[in-house]
Amino acid sequence: MLQNRAPCVDLWLKFLGLSAFISVNPWLNFFLVPCKISDMKLVTLDPRQFDASAPDFATRAREYCAQLEAGDILFFPQSPIAIAAEDLEFLLSAQQTGAGYHKNIAYRPAADKVTGFVKDRPEVEERLRTIMRKYSQSVVKFLSGFLAPYQTRWALDYASYRPQEEQGRDLALRKRNDLLHTDAFPTRPTHGDRILRFFNNINPSQTRDWVTAPTFDVLVEQFVGSKLAQNQNNAPPELLSVLRRPSAASALLRGAGRTLGLGKLVPSLKRSRYDEFMMRFHNFLKENEDFQKNCEKWHWQFPPGSSWMVYTDMVAHAVLSGQYALEQTFLVSKDAMVTPEKAPVTVVERLAKGA
Ligand code: SIN
Ligand code: FE
Repeated sequence: MLQNRAPCVDLWLKFLGLSAFISVNPWLNFFLVPCKISDMKLVTLDPRQFDASAPDFATRAREYCAQLEAGDILFFPQSPIAIAAEDLEFLLSAQQTGAGYHKNIAYRPAADKVTGFVKDRPEVEERLRTIMRKYSQSVVKFLSGFLAPYQTRWALDYASYRPQEEQGRDLALRKRNDLLHTDAFPTRPTHGDRILRFFNNINPSQTRDWVTAPTFDVLVEQFVGSKLAQNQNNAPPELLSVLRRPSAASALLRGAGRTLGLGKLVPSLKRSRYDEFMMRFHNFLKENEDFQKNCEKWHWQFPPGSSWMVYTDMVAHAVLSGQYALEQTFLVSKDAMVTPEKAPVTVVERLAKGA
């Protein structure tokens, strides 16, 4: 099943501290790494590398932002976020309500509210809310120093708790997490701001297994870009029509819809051309059997107690298995990017000009 096992072998070796041993014994690679080494990068960070008080940290922080923006995954074998033992115990025993409707338990920091779990005991709700609030605040505190160049130029989005086993979940196709996709939110358009997600695997014994595919810019080029350049009309019509939509007219329509207060009823009215493209691209990838089966893939196993962080609007990803994860989403301002030319909004607007 693992088409490309090199990265997960590599990840485990790093986790076990064996990488140095392997690199001085290259013949071992022959046995342990049977397929090609990944060019999708996993940047492994130990606690010395995320000490924001270190003298050269400003330069390093900028490099971390650039790595994230290029589509690398920043991986912390030992999570920088401490979770108290009694909170962990509580989370591992928490129940989720009708799972088909609520994909996860969500925490909305701005409203300090949790949704998506069995609300039969107020003390349980209060406890869950307190734990999620603490988690959200800890991640914000950590990233405020670690990603200093963004200078907290982000809107804090939802945090989530993911208590269900991901393998074999019964979800509608467009909601499935085990199909490769780039993220876009149907009801929360970002207008070009970036979706940055920070994860914690809190499972005491099981890895969280991901697969990733090439980044957004590469995929868009593959499905639309080169076809536009060659003036071929076989680019996916649902993507082409958004690119060709006159943005002034659609802005007018959206403006009128918002004035009439229709944004809540018709989420697409709140979307810019960019959001519409990202939503359609998300659906297009999930519905594309050939892509799901044949695209280039990298497999990752995130060990218990680890954290990782990635721009999920940039890196096509899917979770294959794993249970019990915490996650905090940030919508980072597009104006805070250190390499704006790589941002999906730049790519989409460039394509729209040529469409
Ligand atoms: C996703 O963002 O698609 C799911 C990731 C996860 O739950 O590990
Ligand atoms: Fe996703």
